[in-house]
Amino acid sequence: MKSLLLFGATGDLSRRMLMPSLFGLDADGLLPADLVIVGTARSDLDDVAFRKSIAEALADFIEPERLKSNDVDRFLQRLRYVSLDVSKADQFNVLRGALGDSPGQNLAIFLSTAPSLFGPTIAGLECVGLAGGGVRLALEKPLGHDLASSRAINDAVASVFKESQTFRIDHYLGKETVQNLLALRFGNALFEPLWNAQGINHVQITVAETVGLEGRLAFYDDAGAVRDMVQNHMLQLLALVAMEPPARFDATAVRDEKVKVLRSLRPIDAQNAATHTVIGQYGKGAVAGQLVAGYADELGHPSSTETFVAIKAHIDNWRWKNVPFYLRTGKRLPARKTEIFIQFNDVPHSIFAGSGAKLAANKLIIGLQPEENVRLELMTKEPGLDRAGMRLREVPLDISLPNAFADVRRRIAYERLLLDLLEGDPTLFVRRDEVEAQWTWIDAIRAGWKADGMEPKAYGAGSWGPSAAIALTERDGVTWHD
Ligand code: BG6
Repeated sequence: MKSLLLFGATGDLSRRMLMPSLFGLDADGLLPADLVIVGTARSDLDDVAFRKSIAEALADFIEPERLKSNDVDRFLQRLRYVSLDVSKADQFNVLRGALGDSPGQNLAIFLSTAPSLFGPTIAGLECVGLAGGGVRLALEKPLGHDLASSRAINDAVASVFKESQTFRIDHYLGKETVQNLLALRFGNALFEPLWNAQGINHVQITVAETVGLEGRLAFYDDAGAVRDMVQNHMLQLLALVAMEPPARFDATAVRDEKVKVLRSLRPIDAQNAATHTVIGQYGKGAVAGQLVAGYADELGHPSSTETFVAIKAHIDNWRWKNVPFYLRTGKRLPARKTEIFIQFNDVPHSIFAGSGAKLAANKLIIGLQPEENVRLELMTKEPGLDRAGMRLREVPLDISLPNAFADVRRRIAYERLLLDLLEGDPTLFVRRDEVEAQWTWIDAIRAGWKADGMEPKAYGAGSWGPSAAIALTERDGVTWHD
């Protein structure tokens, strides 16, 4: 690619993630030498003012020792800015002008704007010939707020761009540790024979956050936890855990297998929403020793938006028959933690039962963030002469990834995704059929809540959600791994 056109260039994602990622790639010599980055947004800036504001963003979000002045200068020189109101089609000519010779060739476009602007933006791009075969289009979430609106976006995109040109972002797929799930499952012979209903008792996926609304009042109150986190990130994690081995690590094979899982999710609707889901909203409390306000106070008015959701899901296929997948995510929980917890089945018969020794099932715990580690809990013998019978204890086999790869910088998810976009590899982007299968499942849940009149239950900030979330698993004899 020789140009990257970024819509929403002055926004929060651009400043916090995209520009720091592009800088990181540039400093490592990974961007094409002649790549020009054209930022666009409504603000009335020129190149100089835009570069200055991005220099400030780099200073805010990158460790000072990585900000070598040569690297910063070279990066800033790649930046151009065009002020644009996307609802005015005639202004797109200026954009085209800023892209130099043959502007519709070797062009990657990144839409980091409100989805309501996707339609006019795409129409404007088409109007000035920036939508042909030489262009790739990346779209940032939210891709709609339900299946119908997501289809409308996908249709608007598809009327101009082929699916092979469309790169839908789920930034979780850019996380090193999420890709590591594939390495763990398909790079080791050890797990796969047990990775099914015969070997696994249940799976838990937790994405816990300590933050609250972070200023995104209107957006979050419209979305809620199930649409903000489950519809995308958590269902992608579930798909990676549950999918069949793809034949190759390529875009078609991997996404074919993920979509099969997403389509095999057992619907949760008005019949079972109350027994299979729990929703909550945080009240005031303390997180990490700090007093924090409740959601409604933060928002400024009462709301029935859920800031916590727990779901007992099933995948209706041979591999996962009767294996529950418990999902939970929430804001203002006690710790920031993204983790996949897999509990294996008990041994079929304990030879130690006579001596009173208790066996615990093996567990595989894959920490995605902030700790990046893989831990296997195994039963081992406690040292001793065993006069009262052999005693056993769970001991972890622990791989800390930062220790194993101490000299490798941990990259922001967007570094990987932007590089893949520029190089045209869609493997870690979400295909249309995946997004739509995700929405289909989520829409049924939300319709079930509505039909049932389910309202979020209160939980104190700094707790692990409403007590009903604990009951959801305890009914099955399962305890959340906190
Ligand atoms: C975003 C959500 O997609 O993911 C946010 O909109 C959430 O609400 C964020 O905080 C979490 O991402 P990460 O990478 O911090 O786990």
